[in-house]
Amino acid sequence: MGNHVCPWRHAYLFDNPLRRLLHDPKKILGPYLVPGMTVLDIGCGMGFFSIGMARLVGNDGLVISVDVEQEMLDVLRKRAARAGIGDRIQTHRCTPEDLGVTTKVDFILAFWMVHEVPDRMGLFRQLRSLIHANGNFLVVEPKMHVSSESFQETLELAGAAGWRCSGDTPIRLSRSAILNVTAPLDTDN
Ligand SMILES: C[S@@+](CC[C@H](N)C(=O)[O-])C[C@H]1O[C@@H](n2cnc3c(N)ncnc32)[C@H](O)[C@@H]1O
Repeated sequence: MGNHVCPWRHAYLFDNPLRRLLHDPKKILGPYLVPGMTVLDIGCGMGFFSIGMARLVGNDGLVISVDVEQEMLDVLRKRAARAGIGDRIQTHRCTPEDLGVTTKVDFILAFWMVHEVPDRMGLFRQLRSLIHANGNFLVVEPKMHVSSESFQETLELAGAAGWRCSGDTPIRLSRSAILNVTAPLDTDN
């Protein structure tokens, strides 16, 4: 866990046109996103979900797409421009230790990325400071790389960082959890 960042060229192995059959962004994220929301896609890769999220939040919404790899963000920008929704997506390159995001959001997605992060607790703490009081955080990990025990350990770390698990959602090849905040921060609104 945490020692291997997916090389950007490998992302085409799972982020390709067939993926929609397994992971339909509208089906997976539709229950949480409404037009006008500001949402965060952390470890966005080439933007498979960022683009789906941009469609769901509509013209008045905003997707903040964050990744450690510039090449992923470059492909995302091209795809978003082709889809005609580039103006709804803000891309940001972070470091493994620091997200460098300060905008508060209504929803966070971390899809198949947490197992690549060396300091999961640090990530959960930073994300905790970004979510609005009633926001949802969907964590999804690949069964291929993350055992049930290791996913439980991830959820315990999230718990220690101020997140509580309120359920899960069935996603192919994946383990998932919906997280909410346990108590509002002073700065929540
Ligand atoms: C397996 S890919 C998944 C990409 C995307 N979420 C998807 O489902 O198509 C994992 C992504 O997480 C990114 N990543 C790894 N560690 C990260 C970190 N500490 N902060 C932000 N992104 C990170 C990688 O660069 C890669 O783009």
